[in-house]
Amino acid sequence: EQEAEATETASLKSDRYIVVGFSQLGAESDWRSANTESMKETFTTENGYKLILEDGQQKQVNQIAAIRSFIQQDVDYIVLAPVTETGWDTVLQEAKDAGIPVIIVDRMVEVSDEDLFTCWVGSDFELEGRKAAEWLNQYASQKNIAAEEIHIVNIQGTIGSSAQIGRSRGLLKAVNKYGWELMAEVTGDFTQAKGREVMESLLKKYDNINVVYCENDNEACGAIEAIEAAGKKVGSNITDGDIMVISFDGVKQQAMDYVIEDKIACIAECNPLHGPRVKAAIELLEKGKTPDKLSYVDEELFSANETVKAITVDGITYLVTILSK
Ligand code: AHR
Repeated sequence: EQEAEATETASLKSDRYIVVGFSQLGAESDWRSANTESMKETFTTENGYKLILEDGQQKQVNQIAAIRSFIQQDVDYIVLAPVTETGWDTVLQEAKDAGIPVIIVDRMVEVSDEDLFTCWVGSDFELEGRKAAEWLNQYASQKNIAAEEIHIVNIQGTIGSSAQIGRSRGLLKAVNKYGWELMAEVTGDFTQAKGREVMESLLKKYDNINVVYCENDNEACGAIEAIEAAGKKVGSNITDGDIMVISFDGVKQQAMDYVIEDKIACIAECNPLHGPRVKAAIELLEKGKTPDKLSYVDEELFSANETVKAITVDGITYLVTILSK
């Protein structure tokens, strides 16, 4: 079978297509679907590419197998959206030995030698977390809500992924700085079903949660289902019994609708449209040029609540995009 794949790739190359093997980590969220679509729409035969897409189903072992099969097929480029940060050294060394450039997209890899990948494009996840937490700080200070009145649970993403590590770190920094109570950190694996399940059990365990920090929109929508099923109200009046939901992505339509309904107080954007960014890097490489090693995407904050119009992190001010019907 591998031989047949290699023959097919060779014939595509002789047809002058640029062959890209893309190891996508899974299909856990709306963000991920949008990201996969962006890659598919970009790397078309009309654009001169042949895309070989492998879904890792959230398992690193599957992604490693996909990369090995791309090496076997002698693709021109390997694009990797890694599920977690660590554990990539060996397979990336194999790609390097085979002379195939590897572009990392979305989450990051932690490797012993930065030369094991050509470049990376994605989000500053810790900044996203700091922005979301700073939005909460600004909101609390404008509403005169004391730090001791803020009781947070964090529904984390896939443990060990850059998106989880960065967003959890961003929150923790603010918790330490402002003195809020962080009651629990539990993973919701970036899925709606797990977000609901985790929130259900958190509500049974703690009766004074008033802020839920969800590390993506799918978890947030699941958490909202659980809060409402428990007969509680989601909203911004956290000193009046509401539970405030804060989230990340801004891709899932239901979540954007929830912002307008004040069911999600604030979303820190995570932009999934990496196809054209990866293509730009490949085009540079094709011309013998060197793309930037790390390219961070600019991102916004979305809210419908006019209390906070701008936040400042590390001296940089970010305007909040206020959504309305
Ligand atoms: O790595 C990006 C994150 O992964 C997105 O926030 C989330 O929705 C996805 O599953």
